[in-house]
Amino acid sequence: EHFFAQRKVMAGKKVLVTAGGTVERVDPVRYLTNDSSGKMGFAIAEAARDMGAQVTVIAARAFALPPSGVTVVRVESAEEMLQAVTDRFESSDVVIKSAAVADYRPVIKLDQKLKKTGDKLVLELEKTTDILESLGRVKSTQFLVGFAAETQQVEYYAMDKLRRKNCDLIVANDVAQEGAGFHGDTNIVQIFDQNGLAASWPLLSKNEVAVRLMSLIAERLETRPE
Ligand code: CTP
Ligand code: CA
Repeated sequence: EHFFAQRKVMAGKKVLVTAGGTVERVDPVRYLTNDSSGKMGFAIAEAARDMGAQVTVIAARAFALPPSGVTVVRVESAEEMLQAVTDRFESSDVVIKSAAVADYRPVIKLDQKLKKTGDKLVLELEKTTDILESLGRVKSTQFLVGFAAETQQVEYYAMDKLRRKNCDLIVANDVAQEGAGFHGDTNIVQIFDQNGLAASWPLLSKNEVAVRLMSLIAERLETRPE
């Protein structure tokens, strides 16, 4: 809590944030997932809350506690996240997709534990729905923010995702860099909009990245032509 009064620049705004990594089950005790900690998404939710927004977090598997004072909806798979986000999209003003959503899920989802059989096992995977892309397709007045985790050609891939998924901003991080990405409490991000690079921040705590990101979004909302 700061000793000075924070300007409630997001008062009256509904902010939807996704966080964590989805879990894609093979059987009742086994699943595919990723290294997402959920920390970036929770930090964004907290920053939005502090700016006076009404915040809902759609949280998949995470290794941190969500902030207090926000609505938390727990989900497991990409499919469940798609449903939870789609249900709330129309009534949201700002949607920030910081979750690490599985690109593929097992074709099979067994009700019983898979038994050990031959020397080799091939697990067949199928593509999940790209949630961000599906939101981009039905977007009207919502301010849509995506993330891009890259290990090479960050600008090229970030701009491709921004256009393909019809986002207002893309938060790109080079996850190969020390101090950036899934692990830890820090991140190094670049922000892209339709015109290209909008901001490039040094190594910062995820909390500081979240505050700067929400400030940038608030500014964009204020100066938006409408
Ligand atoms: N995303 C999503 N649904 C998916 C996959 C990704 O909504 N099934 C979202 C992520 O939440 C993120 C953005 O899309 O905001 C970019 O995710 P990323 O993994 O960087 O990009 P992909 O489009 O999945 O491409 P690739 O993994 O091949 O780089
Ligand atoms: Ca992906």
